Amino acid sequence: MEEKITFTINGVDTTVEVDPEMMLIDVIRDVLNLTGTKRGCDNATCGTCTVVVNGKALKSCNTPVKKVAGTNILTIEGLARGMTLHPIQKSISESGAVQCGFCTPGIIMELYGLLENNANASEQEIENALNKHLCRCTGYEPIRDGALMAQKLIQDRK
Ligand code: FES
Ligand code: FES
Repeated sequence: MEEKITFTINGVDTTVEVDPEMMLIDVIRDVLNLTGTKRGCDNATCGTCTVVVNGKALKSCNTPVKKVAGTNILTIEGLARGMTLHPIQKSISESGAVQCGFCTPGIIMELYGLLENNANASEQEIENALNKHLCRCTGYEPIRDGALMAQKLIQDRK
């Protein structure tokens, strides 16, 4: 049975009327039409569906929407300020880490969850975060470079 579930997404107070067991990715993509969040494996393996919930990276393909009632959700659409990219978007783009781009939104949201909470995360912590994501194009090196560039920009901003 459908229920009303309320949360904030990308700064907008939002109520959806859906089956509470529906996965968050389906609500984000199919109900709210925020298609920047990508569906890859649909079984919590590839990381493409990652969003940030209450400041922490979370896979949306295995999270029932009832679990995010009352939370603050951020998707890739909520990062840029007008034409100004978030430092993580800018760095990942400039490091050559975007080839087909399918993995990119999930990786950016993962790094957001890490670096916006801890700009001084260790290289190992960054590596651990990136290890949750599959990329079939880049060989991962440019993604690592982009993550370190992003960390520097965030440290300099603070
Ligand atoms: S689609 Fe969620 S982890 Fe792959
Ligand atoms: S850039 Fe194509 S999957 Fe990562």
